[in-house]
Amino acid sequence: MIENNSIENLKSRLDIVDVVGSYLELRKNGANFKAVCPFHNDSNPSLVISPSKQIYHCFSCGAGGDAIKFVMEYEKLNYPETIEKLANMYNFSLSYTDETNQREDRKLMDNLTLFFRKKLDAQQIAKNYLVDRGIGQATIEKFEIGFAPSSDETLNFLRSHGYTLSEAKEFGVADMSEKNNKAYCRFIDRIMFPIRSRNGKFVGFGGRTITNHPAKYINSPQTKYFNKSRLLYGYFFAKDSIFKQKKIIITEGYMDTIMLHQAGFTNAVATLGTALTNDHLPLITKMEPEVILAYDGDDAGIAAALKASMLLSRHSFKGGVILFGEGLDPADMVKNGEVQKLNHLFGEAQPFEEFAIERIVKKYNLHDGLEKQKALKEGMEYLQSLPATLQESYRGILSGALNIPQNLVKIKRDIHTRQKRENFVDMLELTIIKTILSKPSLIDTLLDTIDASMFKTHTQEFGLLLENQLEHPKLREIMLWEDIKTYDENELFSAMITFLIKFYSEKLSLVKSDKTLNYKEKQFHIRSFQEKIFKLKRGELVAYEQ
Ligand code: CTP
Ligand code: MN
Repeated sequence: MIENNSIENLKSRLDIVDVVGSYLELRKNGANFKAVCPFHNDSNPSLVISPSKQIYHCFSCGAGGDAIKFVMEYEKLNYPETIEKLANMYNFSLSYTDETNQREDRKLMDNLTLFFRKKLDAQQIAKNYLVDRGIGQATIEKFEIGFAPSSDETLNFLRSHGYTLSEAKEFGVADMSEKNNKAYCRFIDRIMFPIRSRNGKFVGFGGRTITNHPAKYINSPQTKYFNKSRLLYGYFFAKDSIFKQKKIIITEGYMDTIMLHQAGFTNAVATLGTALTNDHLPLITKMEPEVILAYDGDDAGIAAALKASMLLSRHSFKGGVILFGEGLDPADMVKNGEVQKLNHLFGEAQPFEEFAIERIVKKYNLHDGLEKQKALKEGMEYLQSLPATLQESYRGILSGALNIPQNLVKIKRDIHTRQKRENFVDMLELTIIKTILSKPSLIDTLLDTIDASMFKTHTQEFGLLLENQLEHPKLREIMLWEDIKTYDENELFSAMITFLIKFYSEKLSLVKSDKTLNYKEKQFHIRSFQEKIFKLKRGELVAYEQ
């Protein structure tokens, strides 16, 4: 069991912006941050993250809570698992009530990396392979490139250092064979590229065969420490340069990244055999770099570059694409000493929007009318997904690429969810609720003048407030909704007067036209409401009576 005060300690170090920001791309928005909500299907940034309140809330699906809740929901972990995950992310060592649970997990990966490094020094064929690829000794040491020997040798090493199979499994380096129930190491006869987390911890490996094994590369599987769709290879070594240069080069492979670093392009990283997706963006967003995609010019590379360009342009990243042709990738060019040429190429990337439009159009045969129509449709869909300011600027490029008049490129404006909801919103009511939410002591002044039933639009929310259900999504939403201000005490007082005058005036006219009341009853109610309105107009609050 994790000790309670250790959990409390960890909690006090968590910052909601940092935690959510490590999963999602955040955009500053006033005092808060916004992101696209991962808990429902959406492309609008409906998720609001509040640093001052340390909570998140989605204005569209209602998901919300604190940092721990976010990680639980996002990673689908239970509470202790989430605590361990967060402790791991923040380099925090938890104390456990049961001593046996305290394992130094990390050491396994450190030791194994070192083991592979030593094996490389002892393996001439593997060393020759690296020399052949143009990789120098300094690069080997920087990236801690190693060699994985036979499965047995690696397993023996782990065993002799006291690691159990289940520990090795936890890191994805070994597993139990289903065929013969024997343990095996995932990497055999491979050049090993240790993969570091963004903070530099060893979390996985990529291994390239040097024996022509049909799987050219084998990567560590997804583990609780290693999520390949959120990491970029080389990021730990590149982040300072990326930050300084405000530029990042994203390649497709380990080799490209390593060789680019060797040639002085220390802002290079690689995706880990996966496409570039939303999940990668948090890693780079905060540095606001220009992004250069350096991809292969084959079909797979072009398709990957198209997807990545669309993604990056949608998220307002500046930058562009360079495709490498003729089997020559950045690694080959560095090896061939073509650093000048590389430098030149990186300066000439084709902007994402242009590249995307060109490639979308190229997918279709424009001599065929129907196909051209489809190209226009796909092109417009892409334009529509761009930030509004960019949409206009690229209409001309799409019409140009299709060779059609620009007015045929139509862009529909999206109605933002906020606008759609405006009908269901009463700002005065909301402001009163938000004010009381922010300064709960103010409720005392209102308790006997106001009742939930007096709220016409936000009855439920006011009810929740009176019941002190402050965790309720509806109240969280009001808390984080920036268009609603909060009153100070005087403003609240005048707002209440306005609110009550409106309320009793409506009551008054209802009573006047009420046919179910007899004359005496009517008289009584009319007088009572008139009296209330009179007092209110003099600036006196009046008590609520059923
Ligand atoms: N990859 C993979 N599994 C494979 C092939 C490739 O995971 N079977 C991933 C690796 O991350 C690799 C990247 O895709 O680095 C690019 O693949 P490829 O272009 O084939 O590799 P190169 O980086 O060119 O490797 P090399 O130069 O060693 O052939
Ligand atoms: Mn290659």
